[in-house]
Amino acid sequence: MSDLTVRRATPEDRDMIRLVDARAYGITFEDEEKAVEPSVDVFDDPYGLVGTVDGKVVGASAAYALEVSVPGGTPIPASGVTSVAILPTHRRQGVMRALLTEQLQQMRADAMPVATLTASEATIYGRFGFGRIARSAKRTIHTARVEFRPEFKPVGCVRFVDVEEARVVFPGVHDRYRVGVPAMMKMPPRVWSRIFADYPDDRGGASDRVHVVHEIDGVVDACATYRVADRSTELGADHFVKVALAFGVDWHAELELWRFLTSLDLVRTVDAHRPVDDFLDWSLIDMRALDSRSITDHNWGRILDPIKVFEARGYPVDAIVTVGLIDDVFDDLTGSYRIVVDGGRATCERVDVEPDATANIADWASIFFGEVDPRALLAAGRLTGEAGLVKQFFATDRAPFNDVYY
Ligand SMILES: CC(C)(COP(=O)(O)OP(=O)(O)OC[C@H]1O[C@@H](n2cnc3c(N)ncnc32)[C@H](O)[C@@H]1OP(=O)(O)O)[C@@H](O)C(=O)NCCC(=O)NCCS
Repeated sequence: MSDLTVRRATPEDRDMIRLVDARAYGITFEDEEKAVEPSVDVFDDPYGLVGTVDGKVVGASAAYALEVSVPGGTPIPASGVTSVAILPTHRRQGVMRALLTEQLQQMRADAMPVATLTASEATIYGRFGFGRIARSAKRTIHTARVEFRPEFKPVGCVRFVDVEEARVVFPGVHDRYRVGVPAMMKMPPRVWSRIFADYPDDRGGASDRVHVVHEIDGVVDACATYRVADRSTELGADHFVKVALAFGVDWHAELELWRFLTSLDLVRTVDAHRPVDDFLDWSLIDMRALDSRSITDHNWGRILDPIKVFEARGYPVDAIVTVGLIDDVFDDLTGSYRIVVDGGRATCERVDVEPDATANIADWASIFFGEVDPRALLAAGRLTGEAGLVKQFFATDRAPFNDVYY
């Protein structure tokens, strides 16, 4: 391959970025409206880069300015890497490596604590220091078997909202919801726009998007958006619902929405992405009303500033643990970090002592967000040292989850 250059994307690159995307992901922009959608606007933001060969764009990668929720703390700034695509004619020639390395370097220079991404394949990003920080379960709810336990008492009401109201209300409720869910991303405004645009291209034969809210005394505390698809036969109606988003500021509010979503006439099944520690099961008489079809990774994190990151979360006990971190990309980050938790507040500093446990920076991201039991890493030979101590120290009160596609 001739010389590869990495540079900031410019508005003139848009058509080529769109073409690279189309070829890399095998997508066709059939919908006129969608074809002119400003999805490539993300390349206007910092870290929007293209790789060129002989002056021609052959690869691209961008990043949203987002936040990620941390266990027991306030969400921290995160660069959400997106639109990583390389022309198939130039694959496996180091274009992605060049783009991603440059992005991560720039993010570090900007003091960004963490980078995140959702991955098309689980084997790509570990080499860049990304660890899996959240999974999502694809679940099917069989409505005929759904009966809520009598102890569950609805207190509010559900109503349909039009897209204009959804546009105003949903982001604020999602912001309140995401804070308590480790590894959950802030939804980029462009992703909200895409959700509300509801391009016919995205419907996959199902209805347009339906938006509902749950409210108590006029105050909305849970929202959902879904489509209804029809697979009826001469034997009778057989609709199914695909829930794109369902979230609430607390579990009770969200459960009230689920009661509505699973009670629609003619609907036999409801498909949704759910946390792996789904609370929905516990409100039903028949727990087998919910199938888990598959569980897949749905967020990856790359610690860029270990001190900021370790200080950002809450810890269940006051204690001192020294983390041994190995970074194959940024050698200067390799070393020991002592985390002191006093009165629930963490401080962290670089130290020159033997760590309590050592692992790759990618695995520390998984431990930090509560995605892995450190003893599993010990068994796999990925962690050395006091796995039990690390487990106690980094314990979280709920499984990480992310429902944002970015
Ligand atoms: C996946 C993709 C971005 C890789 O780009 P690329 O320029 O071929 O990657 P590089 O040549 O820079 O490879 C860098 C390293 O990643 C590895 N790698 C690349 N793609 C991989 C994949 N799909 N699975 C596993 N490893 C992969 C390479 O083998 C190489 O490994 P090394 O550590 O031995 O050097 C590109 O093939 C693509 O656009 N695919 C389709 C769209 C897609 O899946 N994008 C990613 C979205 S999250």
